[in-house]
Amino acid sequence: MKVYYKDGNVATKNLNPGTSVYGEELIVEDEEYRIWNPRRSKLAAALLNGLEKLEIQDTSKVLYLGASTGTTVSHISDIAINGKIYAVEFSPTTAKKLVQLSNQRFNIAPILGDATKPKGYLNIVEKTDLVYCDVAQPNQSELFMRNMNLFSKDDGVGLLMIKARSIDVVQKPKKIFREQEKKLKEKGFKIVEKVKLEPYEKDHIAFLVEKNF
Ligand SMILES: C[S@@+](CC[C@H](N)C(=O)[O-])C[C@H]1O[C@@H](n2cnc3c(N)ncnc32)[C@H](O)[C@@H]1O
Repeated sequence: MKVYYKDGNVATKNLNPGTSVYGEELIVEDEEYRIWNPRRSKLAAALLNGLEKLEIQDTSKVLYLGASTGTTVSHISDIAINGKIYAVEFSPTTAKKLVQLSNQRFNIAPILGDATKPKGYLNIVEKTDLVYCDVAQPNQSELFMRNMNLFSKDDGVGLLMIKARSIDVVQKPKKIFREQEKKLKEKGFKIVEKVKLEPYEKDHIAFLVEKNF
């Protein structure tokens, strides 16, 4: 995966040189790089915390659920330069920025849609190498698995970002993470790697999963 480590930061090579997407720092060396802020992107936090088995190729197809304004999507777009990121977001206001971003980056396909109703974009999205889910909703594991079942290639993987407080504000995060892991396993998913996101995000965990069926 084309990710660069610079002075303790993680960075990607800017697909759209001269342009910063969310105010991130640009570094010009042999090429231009964008510093990937771990406090703005959970994937950057996971990478800095040692996530090592995720592979995004330059031709990867990605289904991204909960794209928001495209902060993390933009870095994946720097990596999967000849691939495609199907970026699903259900808030029209937020999706406006995502559409603007996709006008500058040919490998992002913005979709105004609801990740709990994947049939709504069944005719748009092809089979993907990665399903990335960061919707911060109580039912996120269920909708993630449904989308994996519909869109993941047989050898594809999924990355699920879990925010304990989105699921239950009272229960201990450790217990919530254990229960979510059990849910995934019961439905036939294999946990390949798990990484906590502290100190960048409190009470969050990233699960990298494979279909095991
Ligand atoms: C934590 S933010 C995502 C941040 C983004 N992943 C990033 O790193 O740049 C969660 C986003 O998921 C969206 N969302 C929540 N439920 C959704 C659903 N059912 N379908 C699509 N998007 C959803 C919210 O509108 C919000 O923009």
